[in-house]
Amino acid sequence: MSANATIVVGVPRETFPGETRVAMVPAVAAVLAKSGAQVAIERGAGEASGYTDAAYEAKGASLASRDEVFARAHVVAHVRVAGANPALTRDDARRYRRGQLVVGMADPLGEPEAIREFASTGASLMALELVPRITRAQSMDVLSSMATVAGYKAVLLAANALPRMFPMMMTAAGTITPARVFVVGAGVAGLQAIASSKRLGAVVHAYDVRPAVKEQIQSLGAKFVELPVEAADAEDKGGYARELGEEFYRKQRELMARVVAESDVVITTAMIPGKKAPVLITGQMLAKMAPGSVVVDLAAERGGNVDVTRAGETVQVGGVRVIGAVNLPATMPYHASQMYARNVASFLQNMIKDNAIALSTDDEVVRDTLVTRDGDVASAALRERLGLATATAAR
Ligand code: NAI
Repeated sequence: MSANATIVVGVPRETFPGETRVAMVPAVAAVLAKSGAQVAIERGAGEASGYTDAAYEAKGASLASRDEVFARAHVVAHVRVAGANPALTRDDARRYRRGQLVVGMADPLGEPEAIREFASTGASLMALELVPRITRAQSMDVLSSMATVAGYKAVLLAANALPRMFPMMMTAAGTITPARVFVVGAGVAGLQAIASSKRLGAVVHAYDVRPAVKEQIQSLGAKFVELPVEAADAEDKGGYARELGEEFYRKQRELMARVVAESDVVITTAMIPGKKAPVLITGQMLAKMAPGSVVVDLAAERGGNVDVTRAGETVQVGGVRVIGAVNLPATMPYHASQMYARNVASFLQNMIKDNAIALSTDDEVVRDTLVTRDGDVASAALRERLGLATATAAR
């Protein structure tokens, strides 16, 4: 650990039901120490993701009780906080203090009220989902890391549930034809689902409303499905998809029906930030799929891309299973935590200046992620959503 370490990064155990990840892993705690930040972690916090207390200590982190972690921390690092864990964040409300920095996934767009509630702690909350998608901030991008894990796991779930094998096999007992996978939405999760399906030997098709994605799909060896539907203005300046309206989605469903019917596996990942996911597949479309086919809906937590999806459940429609996958990164917590911890470390390193955290809103990364400060909602976009007067200091 650095001799002149002055910043304490506190890492409490995660409290959200079923959450197995942890915001810091031992190897990354050692990296932070080199930047002058010392990790204080709640005893047992890494247990569910495969990191022992001894492993943290060996890398220079100190172990503490939950109360001590909060009391000592200049920065508290969570996986889920505020809107991403509203009920149990309330239990910690008394532990935060004014001016303390809190970083984590906070679901500010989905649960803006929870951000308003968090503001009353006086702590400065930085929502990692809002890290801008600029080159400099790629190493801080938790949405990308977690989507990578989810895209990979979605393929494993599908392969496991499918009564067929994925790869083509030429055996003495005959030839096995490869599984046909259709990926709807080729953002970070979708591209990883394509790559993982290809690795398992499937024939993969994919579609996205953002035309820029076509080349990325093809470079992974999948076929881009051309739909004769005009998706003008499909992409916003942040690289995300825009909401395209029910008429567009109706046309999209109609045109995709044939591809869905011909697929053994459909993986849907289509999302619009801060909005309910568009319904792209209906029960009628599922009815045309072969018995035993599997749909994994990665948009389940945002309402689902399939009209019958139920988050956290598997629904059987005729012979087709629809898996409403939720929180898949928590099913692979070892690597999900490792990637998350790297993102957190990078995010903090960006703000560490002269052995202190500099919360400068001149920095786009700070400005975009800072959602509460000094007892108030700091983000202009959230203030608008919550119907609050525009703060002069905030953008
Ligand atoms: P997301 O999780 O919000 O959405 C997933 C995908 O669904 C997106 O590709 C979106 O275009 C697609 N989609 C939305 N509506 C659809 C519809 N009706 N039919 C088919 N697909 C639909 O997006 P994600 O994965 O978080 O990232 C989106 C993009 O952001 C990336 O592909 C990339 O261009 C950009 N990005 C940039 C980064 C950087 O420069 N640092 C890092 C990560 C992503």
